[in-house]
Amino acid sequence: MRKTSVYLPEALKRQLTDLARRTHCSEAKLVRAAVEQLVSGEHADRRVGLDDRVPGRLVGVGVGPGAADLLTVRALRALRRADVVVAPCTDVAATGRAEAIVREAAPDVVVDRLVFAMDPDPAARRAAVAGASARLVELLDAGDEVAFITLGDPNLYSTFSSIAAGVAERRPSTPILTVPGVMAFQELAARSGTVLADDQQSFLVLPANEESTSASDGPLAAALGDRGCTVVVYKGGRQVAAVAERLRDAGRLDNSVLGELLGLPGERIAPVADVADRPASYLSAVIAPARSGV
Ligand SMILES: C[S@@+](CC[C@H](N)C(=O)[O-])C[C@H]1O[C@@H](n2cnc3c(N)ncnc32)[C@H](O)[C@@H]1O
Repeated sequence: MRKTSVYLPEALKRQLTDLARRTHCSEAKLVRAAVEQLVSGEHADRRVGLDDRVPGRLVGVGVGPGAADLLTVRALRALRRADVVVAPCTDVAATGRAEAIVREAAPDVVVDRLVFAMDPDPAARRAAVAGASARLVELLDAGDEVAFITLGDPNLYSTFSSIAAGVAERRPSTPILTVPGVMAFQELAARSGTVLADDQQSFLVLPANEESTSASDGPLAAALGDRGCTVVVYKGGRQVAAVAERLRDAGRLDNSVLGELLGLPGERIAPVADVADRPASYLSAVIAPARSGV
């Protein structure tokens, strides 16, 4: 190691001290990391403004499906840079999945909980979004950059999209940014050795729901009818039996795979045919791979 001394403007030095306090890293380590980044030409994040703290900005951060090592470097930077990191939870006394991932991957990051009841009733859900958005607006108005963590990716079936819309409605000037996260089906494909699409094959993700999944002429049946299309079924844990029936009807049961609680305690990865008669949790995803040469 060789020593280098630098003079920093007062304001920059204050920011460095603050960052060191928040991240529990030494100032020397932070300076070294910044110089390393500069000399290695790693400027990718500058394009999207990820390295600069923006007061009053809302950042949706995808934390991946469950395994702490699937939290990206960009997500970690966003979490460490934010003034406040919030996690949606159903009860303020319960640790949500996204919070648990961050705790394991970055114990230095403090996560606050934002109660958000995922009520199926549209009016109750609207009220929950309004309450959560109003709380975020308070933080943003106070000049905080707020990171909102979410399982998987913030742009796929995520609470973040409704929360972001609620914030934008109340505070239209809010800059909103998302940091992508690994999606559950990507982890399932990797862990089960499944190719998601190749050559001219197509790819579709759709949510299960009690009515459409059990119907033999519903959207799932129609999607499975195209054998050149890989179909991913989300939110189908409680309807595994009906999903399996649609797969059997389409002649696609034998090579379809289910991933439950990926990267989380109780994880299970199995052919759908082997688990169709057992209950599965909400956090389950199914991949029905396209057949090649179809
Ligand atoms: C509200 S959506 C969230 C999707 C998430 N934003 C993503 O990008 O994967 C919840 C659905 O995602 C899937 N999912 C998310 N995390 C999962 C996990 N760890 N294991 C299995 N499925 C998961 C399940 O299909 C679940 O019903």
